[in-house]
Amino acid sequence: MKIVKEIDQNILNDEICLIPTMGALHEGHLSLIKKGKESGLSTMVTIFINELQFDSKEDFSNYPSKIEDDIKTLDNLDIDYLFIPENNYIYPDSGFEKIDSGPIGKKFEGNSRPGHFDGMLTVVNRLFQLTLPKIAIFGKKDAQQLFLIKEMVNKKNYPIKIIEGLTVRDNLGLALSSRNLLLSKYGEEKARLINQILNHSKKEFCEKKDLNIFKKLKSYYSDGDIEIDYLAIVDPETFGDPLEKTENYIIIIAAYIENIRLIDNIEFKLERV
Ligand code: PAJ
Repeated sequence: MKIVKEIDQNILNDEICLIPTMGALHEGHLSLIKKGKESGLSTMVTIFINELQFDSKEDFSNYPSKIEDDIKTLDNLDIDYLFIPENNYIYPDSGFEKIDSGPIGKKFEGNSRPGHFDGMLTVVNRLFQLTLPKIAIFGKKDAQQLFLIKEMVNKKNYPIKIIEGLTVRDNLGLALSSRNLLLSKYGEEKARLINQILNHSKKEFCEKKDLNIFKKLKSYYSDGDIEIDYLAIVDPETFGDPLEKTENYIIIIAAYIENIRLIDNIEFKLERV
């Protein structure tokens, strides 16, 4: 594994499969890397904690960083490149393109974290422009992020294939997240509720076919331990409200536990009778 801070022509001679991360790697990240290796291209993992996508300085400075551990983990995986850029390489004084995430980028996560998706797309776009990947891999755990990245790739006509990785969970259903490291043992127990809420919401929706149940479920589950920011259902094609013709659905949730913001989702098809 070559650790690089900048991209040179030698690297660009390879066909790159890019796996962007902010580090503090867990099995979710590793599942994406495994997919990358299956592509047969040169695998490049990036670790860059992108300040631009944090809406508060405190959240940015609290974000877990375990670079030495990450390097050890990646060394065992036999990837080709680990790209750890400096801030001024990604965001040079000479300027860089700022991406506007548009109307979908202002909903849900974007509504609660203003500017988050503009910052996220700006860094992903920079990484794409610098590394010119043939393939890039992202997780379905961040459903809205994935939707917006695919939308940007389409709009810009980039010749990049986006591969989607399934959400990796622990054996009790908690979606793995670097932010889980910030939870106490008690908080981790409480965080398991998130997946249960999603499964319960899916069951209720499949039975009642009523878009209004989510408000009720949100207040039913909110208590001192878990503060639900949103619980909503969207059509994965549009990330908007489901329509009469919608067949696939995603229920998305964001919740605070011990002041840590966690997100998750569940995707399913509603069988028509
Ligand atoms: P980060 O949270 O480090 O996630 C990096 C990638 O891992 C993303 O594509 C994310 O969806 C995926 N991922 C996270 N948890 C996962 C899980 N439990 N199972 C499967 N995949 C999972 O997402 C970001 O970083 C940043 O926004 C980034 C895209 C790197 C831009 O800064």
